[in-house]
Amino acid sequence: MKTLVYPGSFDPCTNGHLDIIMRAAKLADKLIVAVLDNSNKTPLFTAEERVELLKTAVAGLDNVEVYAFSGLLVDFLKKVDSTVIVKGIRAVSDFEYEFQMALTNHTLYPEIETLFIPSGKDYMFLSSSIVKEVAKYGGSLDGLVPEALIPVINKRF
Ligand code: PNS
Repeated sequence: MKTLVYPGSFDPCTNGHLDIIMRAAKLADKLIVAVLDNSNKTPLFTAEERVELLKTAVAGLDNVEVYAFSGLLVDFLKKVDSTVIVKGIRAVSDFEYEFQMALTNHTLYPEIETLFIPSGKDYMFLSSSIVKEVAKYGGSLDGLVPEALIPVINKRF
């Protein structure tokens, strides 16, 4: 059974994340979306809230599970018996940091490979930060995040 892990902050989940989830789920027997719970950043949503938002977004995708994790990603992969990390890549600017993380994870746990999936062309500009910026100033989140999440995000501002 091939389990893939898609890690991230997901603060909040965007349509770009959901696009990667749907495409990665097709490559896996099981896709685990892993929500970081120990970031240095102060998130808008707690890890529990981010997990709930993601669960709402992936409702209907039968082979997708969502969990929070803290500590090293490689330790989480060992716990869920996976050796494949999925990351979405939006642009050249993402690449340097993602490459650094992929090599760090591979060094820490050599069985691990990172699978890069190019972002959907409609989502190349999209990030959680952009979503927060738009929501903060009362802009429309239509098309930026899964529809069910719009009222929850707007309420937070
Ligand atoms: O959505 P993000 O913020 O780009 O996700 C970054 C994430 C969660 C994938 C990364 O910060 C991470 O894996 N953190 C866990 C700590 C860790 O394992 N660090 C070593 C790899 S550099």
